[in-house]
Amino acid sequence: MKNSIPTHVGIIMDGNGRWATRRGLVRSAGHQAGYDRLKKTALYILHKGVKYLSIFAFSTENFKRSKEEVDFLMNLFCTGFGKEKDFFRENDVKVVFSGRDKPLSKKLMKIMDELEDYTKDCKAGILNICLNYGGQAEIVDASKKIALLVKEDKLNIEDITEETFYKYLYNDLPPIDLLIRTSGEIRISNFMLYSLSYAELVFTSTCFPDFDEKEFDACLEDYQNRNITKGSVK
Ligand code: IPE
Ligand code: IPE
Ligand code: MG
Repeated sequence: MKNSIPTHVGIIMDGNGRWATRRGLVRSAGHQAGYDRLKKTALYILHKGVKYLSIFAFSTENFKRSKEEVDFLMNLFCTGFGKEKDFFRENDVKVVFSGRDKPLSKKLMKIMDELEDYTKDCKAGILNICLNYGGQAEIVDASKKIALLVKEDKLNIEDITEETFYKYLYNDLPPIDLLIRTSGEIRISNFMLYSLSYAELVFTSTCFPDFDEKEFDACLEDYQNRNITKGSVK
């Protein structure tokens, strides 16, 4: 029997730069194409019955890129998330963000807060956008929150378990069932380390701007045909 639709899907949206370079375009054209693709593919995935979709939009490490590329991406997030408020609400998608604040601009953080607030009652699915995000940083930040609560006598050490730890992550989401990485790279690149503990991994050589409905269906088919035991017998 096939596995059911995964509850939580993660996507490392990689290959925007190469997609553009191969077409003789500048890297920023690839980021724009990736952003346009995200809107379509995310809706398709959530309306297919996936309840949570976490996407890697910008890593803490991505600040090492050229100023020109970082500026382009930050502007893309500002204009995109700023003008897309109705798009997400009309499609009943609740948007949440995961990541550290610093060194994001006040302007971008305000736009992110407004989008979260504007979509907070949407019910079709949750889109978790990981922006200025690092998986190790998330575990460190969660540990700090816990340490403070314990210090203030608001939490008992005995109540910290593998399950309750999720509550202290940037967003309290269930574990990831299926992780997809586009563009042929076969690594995790510091994405959602805690939540990925038992995820099924699917790597596709398609660059993210070409990751359409058919591409997702192929990944889903792969997932649904796997023998998922999670420690029990095959
Ligand atoms: C992913 O595409 C988008 C971000 C990391 C922001 P890349 O920009 O990493 O594209 P490649 O891997 O260089 O082709
Ligand atoms: C991971 O892609 C981050 C995002 C997709 C936002 P990168 O392209 O930055 O990762 P590495 O450098 O190849 O590991
Ligand atoms: Mg890359």
